[in-house]
Order: sequence, then C-alpha cells, then structure tokens
Amino acid sequence: MENERYDLVIAANRLPVDKLTGPDGEVSWRRSPGGLVTAMDAVMRGRDGAWVGWAGDAGDAPAPFTDNGMELVPVPLSAAEVADFYEGFSNDTLWPIYHDVIVPATFHRSWWAAYKTVNQRFADAVCAVAAEGATVWIHDYQLQLVPAMVRAQRPDVRIGWFDHIPFPAVELFAQLPWREEIISGLLGADFLGFQRKADAENFVRACRRLARLSTRGEHVQTVDGRVVRASAVPISIDTAGLDELARTPEVQARAREIRESLGNPKKILLGVDRLDYTKGIRHRLKAYEELLRDNVIRPPDVVLVQVATPSRERVEAYRQLRTEIERTVGRINGEYAAIGSSAVEYLHHSYGRDEMAALFQAADVMLVTPLRDGMNLVAKEYVACRHDGDGALVLSEFTGAYHELKSAYVCNPHDIEGTKRVITKAITDPVRERRKRMKSLRKVVGAKDVQTWATNFLAALEHAPHRPEEAEDA
Ligand code: ADP
Ligand code: F6P
Repeated sequence: MENERYDLVIAANRLPVDKLTGPDGEVSWRRSPGGLVTAMDAVMRGRDGAWVGWAGDAGDAPAPFTDNGMELVPVPLSAAEVADFYEGFSNDTLWPIYHDVIVPATFHRSWWAAYKTVNQRFADAVCAVAAEGATVWIHDYQLQLVPAMVRAQRPDVRIGWFDHIPFPAVELFAQLPWREEIISGLLGADFLGFQRKADAENFVRACRRLARLSTRGEHVQTVDGRVVRASAVPISIDTAGLDELARTPEVQARAREIRESLGNPKKILLGVDRLDYTKGIRHRLKAYEELLRDNVIRPPDVVLVQVATPSRERVEAYRQLRTEIERTVGRINGEYAAIGSSAVEYLHHSYGRDEMAALFQAADVMLVTPLRDGMNLVAKEYVACRHDGDGALVLSEFTGAYHELKSAYVCNPHDIEGTKRVITKAITDPVRERRKRMKSLRKVVGAKDVQTWATNFLAALEHAPHRPEEAEDA
C-alpha cells in the first residue's frame, strides 16, 4: 500500500491491534483494549479508508499493512515517548483533568514537549496518506493538536475530531498550563464531536473564557476567521451484531457453563472494566462487601464476577489501584467465601467477543459504577446481549450512557448506602419490573448503533460551517 492515498483517514492513538514481541523475537498481534477500538473497528470494517495509529510497543513502527480488510498505518513511538507522551501527558496529565481529578494530575514541561512532537508525527502521517479533499477523522485526548497541525499542511481536507472521554468543566481545564495551545489545536478542526451536550458546552465555554474567542451557541469563531461547531454525537455499539452473537447456541451454552462453574448461584453480579480508577471499582467492592457484612446477600446464593482488563500498568496511580483492588478482593474472599464458593471471582484478563457475550448473558445484575466515564460501552453491550428481556443494569449517573439509559437502576457511586440500596433492588425486584426496564433500555440501544453514530458524525462534519456567514444560518 506504499504511496496509496485514501478519501477517509482516521487517526487514533492506538491501532485496533497491538504488536507483541515474544522472548524469541517472534511477533504476534492482539486486539487493543478500550471502547474507542471496539467502536472504530466496527465502523472501519464497513468503509474504505486508512487507520493511522501506534502499534502499542516502543521502537520502529512496522510497515503499513492490511488487517481483515483494514489499511493500518503504524506511527512509531520511542521508549521515551511512550513514557512522556502516552503514560505521562496523555494518561497522567490529561486523563485525570478530564475525569474530575479523581487522582491528582501531574504536570511536566518535558511531557508537554513530547505530546507536541508525537502529535506532529501523527499529523505528518495523516497528511501523507490523505487524498486531495479527503475526510480526516481524529480521535480522543491523545491527539488534540493534530487538527491544527493537519490544517497547516493540508487546507484541502475536511477535519473532524471526536472526544471519547468527558471534556472537563472550565475550572478544571484551566489548570492546564497549555490550555490555550490545546484549544487552538482542536480549533483546527471543522467539527468537534463530544459524548454529551455538557461536554460540548464545556469546550465552548473554555474557548470563550480562556481563549477569549467569540462564541454563539455551538459555534466558535477562530482567529483565522473560520467557524468551528462543537456538538454532542453520543457513541454506540454494534447492537445487531452483539444481539445476534448472544443468541448463538455456542454463546448460550457457554453462559450456562459459566453459571454452573460458579456453583449455580441464584444471582450473578458482574463488573467489566479496564482496571482504571475512573471506573469506580473500589466503591463497587465497598458496597458489595457491606452488603455481605450486613447479611443482605451471601455466597453461594450470590457471587460477584469482576473482570478487570489490564490497563496502563506503568502509571503509578494504576499500579496503586491494582494493589488496592486485589487486596480488597482477597479480604472479601477471606472473610465471606467458602470452599468451592467465592464471594468475588476476580479475572485480570482480556477475553474475546464470544466470552464477553456469554458473561453478559450469564449476569443477572450488571454493575456499571464509574465515578466519571465519557460513555461506557459495557452498559450498552450488556443491554444488547439481553435478548431474553431479563437482567438488571445498575448504572452510575456519572457516565455518558446514563443520559440515554435512564430506565436503568441508577446510582451515585459516591453514595455507598444509596448504591447498596440500588444493588439490592436490582437483585430483588420482581421479574416484571426488571423486564419493563430492560425493554425500555433495549429500545434505546436498538435505535442508535455505532454505524448511526459514525454516519451522524460524518454528516455533521460534511455540513460543518466554514465561514461565519454560514454559521449564522446554522
Ligand atoms: P473504556 O473505553 O474506558 O475502556 P468502555 O466501557 O467504553 O470503556 O469500553 C470498553 C470496551 O472494552 C468494551 O467494548 C468492552 O466490552 C471491552 N472490554 C472490557 N473489558 C474487557 C476484557 N476483559 N476483555 C475483552 N474486552 C473487554
Ligand atoms: O476512550 C477511552 C480510551 O481512553 C481510549 O482513548 C483508549 O484507546 C482506551 O480507552 C484504552 O486505553 P489505552 O489506549 O491507554 O490502553
């Protein structure tokens, strides 16, 4: 695919696959973690285009290659850049700021320098493969300078950016010493998409208050006389694909097998998250432990399966979280498990799509309790897998998903007593009540899938205003 040009180019920090090099130098590829990859993998499989991203290890990048019909263009990161751009600025500066500073953010000027260098490299890679007049779709917080960097080289292309995570309130965003550069970087785009209306509004407010730009509704006037629109386009999942998968005899048999191997409990509770402090796993375990202590539930009648995907394991806050979670799980099991019946089944692994669908099928209560989450696709995936109309979704009001899935069993994860009450209700509610809620959730998840999201984003990008007078009419 050398010298090939594409009409659609997407750029995301990660490619959909990660390169693994074994001790003998043997190379293998594994699916990358996270919601961005789940969504964009589904979108790109149906379209012609190239995906520019990092292959997940330090050193030279592999040559561009095709994976399952997708054109992948790897961008190299040195070991120092992995530390400074990815682990540092992206995940120890921006990630905490954009998630309500659940842990403190760290600021280093050298990390910012690496962020600029790597963003420029992504922009160059995008420009090298974008055809004349192409659509360029840039993703997430790791690449916020890329829109302006692409525009500087390629005024002919249409540029969109989508924020998979929250956009913070202006008071938090203001802490960033490089806030104006980030605003200018993003304003290189024609259209900026966010998970929630509140995220788009936070961005527009930051433009007005911190960059002193004039704004009108969803539109921001740039210093070079353009108008950029910032609007909510909530992401979704491959609803039909998951629904179909969950109905297969293999997945259903596996769901029964999972139940049996857990000792046929009356209720299976499930958590599925990257091992991230934003996901509220500590709060969830605290509520669960107290329900056991209060004798509201007990094994073998009830078991919690917690799947915690390994994530960002070299960042200190993530190491600490893992230690704390594993210590808590050990304590809960020490106190409440019996031989052959755990209180918590803890799995620190990644699984295939079939196994995830079987877990969702097997779970009577799905616990999605983040302290802050851009969307949370797991909540929608659970609903898509419940073609039987049963199952209860406990959902934090601090997820993007909450704004669409209000019929869930809604909780505030900071309120441990309240969360305990909601979990108990989800466990004990009559089947009629559960089914009523699930029916309404399935209607929402069925109505807008990931292809609808991509189509809506691309249409908004296509129609985004270029000039102020067009914005007036918008
Ligand atoms: P985030 O993007 O923050 O990781 P989301 O809930 O939006 O959170 O997306 C996570 C995605 O990763 C979902 O598609 C989910 O099914 C998938 N996933 C989470 N944990 C695992 C796991 N252990 N194995 C395989 N896939 C997983
Ligand atoms: O949007 C969520 C997200 O942060 C993606 O940007 C990211 O690719 C994914 O979760 C997983 O995180 P990481 O790429 O750091 O493993």
